Amino acid sequence: MNDWTFRASGVTKTYDGGKTYANRDISLRVEPGEVFGLLGPNGAGKSTLVKQIIGLLKPTAGSLHLGPHDLVADPDAARQLCSYLPQAPMPIESFKVHEAIRLTGEIRGGDRRQIERRAGELIEALQIEEWRDTLGARLSGGVRRLVGFVMVTVVPGRLVILDEPTNDVDPLRRRLLWDQIRQLGEMGVGVILVTHNVLEAEKSVDRLAVISDGRVVAEGTPSSLKVADRGRLRLQLMLTPGVATPELPSLVLDHTRVGNNLVSVIPEEKAGEGIAWAQQLMSQGIAEEYALAATTLEDAYIRLTGELPADEPEGAAA
Ligand SMILES: Nc1ncnc2c1ncn2[C@@H]1O[C@H](COP(=O)(O)OP(=O)(O)OP(=O)(O)O)[C@@H](O)[C@H]1O
Ligand SMILES: [Mg+2]
Repeated sequence: MNDWTFRASGVTKTYDGGKTYANRDISLRVEPGEVFGLLGPNGAGKSTLVKQIIGLLKPTAGSLHLGPHDLVADPDAARQLCSYLPQAPMPIESFKVHEAIRLTGEIRGGDRRQIERRAGELIEALQIEEWRDTLGARLSGGVRRLVGFVMVTVVPGRLVILDEPTNDVDPLRRRLLWDQIRQLGEMGVGVILVTHNVLEAEKSVDRLAVISDGRVVAEGTPSSLKVADRGRLRLQLMLTPGVATPELPSLVLDHTRVGNNLVSVIPEEKAGEGIAWAQQLMSQGIAEEYALAATTLEDAYIRLTGELPADEPEGAAA
């Protein structure tokens, strides 16, 4: 029996004749059955990394292996063994949804009855039955993404690579999609998942790497990445539109403002003072709402990359 562990070792990729370093010395492992998240800001190098795994790009240096296969030396094996949902929409304009799914399943060598059964299950699980007979050209962005997911996982390879699978998908179906991504792990498939949605990733990945400027800046389980935020709380204020950022008391350890959303980190033992400050801002008309909560993976992400995740400022205050 092969061990289908995926290993990237020292992967470096430059563009423009060495002027742009998209990946710098990236080393990672993904075990079979593991859902592994790749997180990082725009331009961090996530898509570049996954394109090298499936043989669309050749690394400038480093190696990529899946089980016994050298994916760089053998791009045919890479295509056969890996299933890949690209970040760009799937080109399925002239196919009906169920045809596109059946065709990709057949190309991957699936048995017709098996394809039909699993396609039916996935279509039902993601609640996209009503588009089964719709032409690709007429699908909305989110449904097209979900159909793409079904196409690449109807006959999954040993490693499934999903580049932003939840983009454009509504919150309910996003949840259904995450369930299906977890299911792939339970089937024993390794999953590499590129996402900007830090909060959803926190709940659904086994391990993750944060990539910034082409490098892995942190790697581990979601809880291991949050260790540095232990003992801290997040105090989130929805400021009154148009007001300047208020003067911050010394209890604020760190803060980021996006629009009217002011996210600050305070020590746990100063929760009372934090609330008093927030209430004072509300009585002065500077803030409209506030929420005090445990720190999440987002706070680690902000600390590591210096950026707010793309899904901020969602559900800012309660
Ligand atoms: N074909 C290319 N030629 C030159 N530079 C490129 C090319 N493709 C990507 N880059 C550059 O490489 C870097 C990494 O890009 P990449 O697409 O891997 O980022 P990403 O992490 O997937 O970002 P996003 O979250 O926006 O999808 C960026 O600086 C980008 O401008
Ligand atoms: Mg990308």
